[in-house]
Amino acid sequence: MIRLADSDTRSSLPAPGACDLSSLNTFALESLAPACVSLHDEADLPRLATLAKRYDALLVLGGGSNVVLPPKVRGLVARVALRGVRLAGEDARMRIVEAAAGESWHGLVAHCVEQGWGGLENLALIPGTVGAAPVQNIGAYGVELCERFAGLRAYDLLREEWVDMDASQCGFGYRDSVFKREPGRWVIASVRVTLPKPWRPVLEYPDLQRHPRLVGAPSPRDVFEAVCEIRRAKLPDPAVLGNAGSFFKNPVVPAAQYEALRARFPGLVGYPQANGGYKLAAGWLIDQCGWKGRRLGPVGVHERQALVLVNHGGARAADVLALAEAIRRDVENRYGVVLEPEPVVVPGASERT
Ligand code: EPU
Repeated sequence: MIRLADSDTRSSLPAPGACDLSSLNTFALESLAPACVSLHDEADLPRLATLAKRYDALLVLGGGSNVVLPPKVRGLVARVALRGVRLAGEDARMRIVEAAAGESWHGLVAHCVEQGWGGLENLALIPGTVGAAPVQNIGAYGVELCERFAGLRAYDLLREEWVDMDASQCGFGYRDSVFKREPGRWVIASVRVTLPKPWRPVLEYPDLQRHPRLVGAPSPRDVFEAVCEIRRAKLPDPAVLGNAGSFFKNPVVPAAQYEALRARFPGLVGYPQANGGYKLAAGWLIDQCGWKGRRLGPVGVHERQALVLVNHGGARAADVLALAEAIRRDVENRYGVVLEPEPVVVPGASERT
């Protein structure tokens, strides 16, 4: 990994400037940041700690793929642009790959597959950066980041020190981590993933079991291609239709509530969890309430996946929140289940200007 720290003699970051974030969030929500800086170098992270003290709030932005941004962002926005990928270690049982936080996540997955290194292929085509991946513990098609996580390097803005964090320190949960619970405290600089040897495909997810490309002995590339195909068929491309992936988490309910619901709604989709509860498919609940493909102002529910809210053009965060609230209410009234948003809703999002 190329580090520029030794050659960089600046003692502070350039003065923050105004930035239009409308094209820098995948939801394509109209958003302006009066004070914005880019972090190109690890040495910029301690500098950010000094600069951020002059502002009431700090928002660290990666690929902008999991945020609902307000029309005007309060405080300082720091865009992470650190680059580099390297094989950091290898033995008989695994490879460790280290990637800088500003790299594209999908770019990292594709790079590993190209080298013939399996392990991340189920997580192909997830939008966003490497540094954002641990924040929400990204997951798809039977694999979560925490299962491939070796560690990360971050700057702790509270203690003003570099830290190396392992999985337990990151406090990973379902689409959750300590970084989501204490926003603005750490800036992630790089992430290390473990790619197990020998590689074994993870094909338990129903969509993969049915896939014609995956019969016999598939390679990491076969799984990668299949996941890309499935995602392209179901999920809207943010470059074409603004969205932030799943807008709600799949809610986990106690077994008794699951059984009672199933008795009333036999089609209910739920998966047993290690804690004895059941994870319900929020997409199914929303779909059954008749929301799939519906619009409310400039926003709507995607026509092929009810869990994804989309921006048909010119939307602001308040439009998204109004739609989300209408869906949340309907699902609660019908099923008694409360849906929680999955993306980070940045303060000020409910304001119109
Ligand atoms: N379903 C419906 N109608 C819909 C959508 C889904 O009936 O409109 C049903 C499906 O038929 C299926 C079940 O709900 O039986 C689950 O649907 P799917 O397999 O598409 O997955 P999901 O639970 O909707 C989750 C993740 C996705 C991830 C996929 C695949 C969350 C919040 N979402 O979606 O992650 O790609 O599984 O692993 O956990 C994201 O987090 O942004 C994201 C896209």
